[in-house]
Amino acid sequence: MTSSLVILGAGGHAAVLLDTLLEASNKIEAIVSPNPAANGQIFEGLSVYDTDDYILNSKVSDFKLINGVGSIPGSHTRVNLYRKFRALGFEFERVISPTATISSYAVLGVGVQVMQGAIIQAGAIIGENTIVNTGAIVEHDCVIGSHNHIAPGVVLSGQVTTGDEVHIGTGACVIQCVSIGSGSVVGAGAAVTKDLQANVIAYGPKTTVVNPMDK
Ligand SMILES: CC(C)(COP(=O)(O)OP(=O)(O)OC[C@H]1O[C@@H](n2cnc3c(N)ncnc32)[C@H](O)[C@@H]1OP(=O)(O)O)[C@@H](O)C(=O)NCCC(=O)NCCS
Repeated sequence: MTSSLVILGAGGHAAVLLDTLLEASNKIEAIVSPNPAANGQIFEGLSVYDTDDYILNSKVSDFKLINGVGSIPGSHTRVNLYRKFRALGFEFERVISPTATISSYAVLGVGVQVMQGAIIQAGAIIGENTIVNTGAIVEHDCVIGSHNHIAPGVVLSGQVTTGDEVHIGTGACVIQCVSIGSGSVVGAGAAVTKDLQANVIAYGPKTTVVNPMDK
């Protein structure tokens, strides 16, 4: 990464991204956030603007944007900001932690963020503006849609597919070849063994014990 960067947001997700970007000696031009920085120390010394005017008064070639707004179920701020600035012609930079392991046979879309310790295996495709968060595993040939949040510690087995704006909650597991429809939420810790339709919420443990001889 060589161009100047402007980070949208100053909360926890922005702080983690900033940490990764500073470690790799990126030039941070400014932070744009209507809210004060949540973690003062890491943002110290950076220019912080509290409205979008700083970006709107710049040329699209002046810098690239980093989407520092985190993603929780039910909130659309992250995707809305991304769409707004893309429509105006601004580019979003990817952020890849140096401690992430990404196959050279995986494909990452524009603005994808892969956080510390995440693993993305061969044949996986990750859609634009998606977060693969800390320690998540995206196994071979998964096809992940745009604006997904694969939360910390998630395990997606091989060939899982997701639509757009899917949230897979912290520590959830999805078995191989399952398909998850757009807008759906998988709760933290869930084990998903069957396809999910669009716009559903799936959570809670359901452990079934069977004797194979009875089948
Ligand atoms: C599944 C989820 C979206 C449900 O949220 P919600 O609709 O606001 O649900 P509530 O918090 O009102 O909980 C409703 C009930 O379901 C239970 N519940 C909620 N989430 C659960 C989960 N993941 N597993 C098991 N039970 C859960 C609650 O304990 C509560 O039970 P109660 O009625 O007996 O008290 C949410 O709990 C979740 O898991 N979000 C993912 C968070 C995440 O991944 N964060 C990552 C940040 S980096």
